[in-house]
Amino acid sequence: MEARPNLVDLVGETPLVRLPAASRRLGVSVSAKLELCNPTGSIKDRPARYIVEQALALGMIEPGSLLVESSSGNFGVALANMCRHHGLRFACVVDPNVTPMHHYMMCRLGAELHMVDTRDESGGYLNTRLERVHELLDEEVGAFWTNQYANEWNTAAHYHGTGPEILRQTEGRIHHLFAAVSSGGTISGCARYLKEKIPDLTVVAVDAEGSAIFGRPPRSRFIPGVGSSMVPKNVDRSLIDVVIHVPEEDTILECHRLLREEGIFAGGSSGTVMAAIRRYFEADGSQQGARVVAIFPDRGERYFQTVYDPVWVAKTYPALRGSGGIHDVRGAAAFVAPSLGAFLREGA
Ligand SMILES: Cc1ncc(COP(=O)(O)O)c(C=O)c1O
Repeated sequence: MEARPNLVDLVGETPLVRLPAASRRLGVSVSAKLELCNPTGSIKDRPARYIVEQALALGMIEPGSLLVESSSGNFGVALANMCRHHGLRFACVVDPNVTPMHHYMMCRLGAELHMVDTRDESGGYLNTRLERVHELLDEEVGAFWTNQYANEWNTAAHYHGTGPEILRQTEGRIHHLFAAVSSGGTISGCARYLKEKIPDLTVVAVDAEGSAIFGRPPRSRFIPGVGSSMVPKNVDRSLIDVVIHVPEEDTILECHRLLREEGIFAGGSSGTVMAAIRRYFEADGSQQGARVVAIFPDRGERYFQTVYDPVWVAKTYPALRGSGGIHDVRGAAAFVAPSLGAFLREGA
């Protein structure tokens, strides 16, 4: 196989892999779309690439232009890498919940970070982050807001990319699609494309308990990635058949189970999706033999301070202490997390 011209060229075309243990236990065929194989480690490489390339092609930005976004996570890292590649500048508004890994990667990839630390009236940072985004846009003529929650190019990235790949990899033999929701780009783009080809596909949106996306009141959540404290414009309810809310305790247990039983070291929302699949098929035994695709959005290493840190788990969710094999990783996490923290502090 010949060398690809650059890393950006490796975005997408991610593998689909069967999950033998989960499939056996639930009596359905579960496959995972490993978006964690994207170059910066998450599904967000897709919208970052699509949005930047569209804006460049339409002359809305050019090398040297400033991009602005509010993201404390994967989208910020993906955009930072895309801006590095195209010679763009990137200002990313973050809040104190940003993980050390995301903070470190964005800085090293050349992003300028703007930390907001004042909570808004809802107790979160969303509105203060948006205020800072608007200040940055006002400060520079021609600055471009990628705006992942409302930009339809976010959805288009999945309509033209992830959706067709799933159709090809399954040869159209898929009954259920399970996807975690935050901005809504993944589920709306994949569902729109796949339902055009497979009209009786069941699309299951997976959200975190405490998220406001599907009309519940927001409350504090600790695991980044899935959920939102507002209703994003990119969530198209007409494409969603079922919504499942998952408590963070189940997310943690399923992440550990994925590593133990399937050998997949995945991020929080992959565990959230697996918890939803379990709940859905355990409640309805009539679906035996169904073909299920689960989207796994990112890698596990960015959750060393939460999901994979047994000290954090025991403090945040005391009922999980020692359960579900979590204590099995005590040695590894206790060794890695503090040393990684020290490394990041020195290196940043
Ligand atoms: C880890 C993780 N899971 C799930 C999602 C949800 O994807 P989307 O924003 O396309 O709804 C995101 C988005 O940031 C994410 O970072």
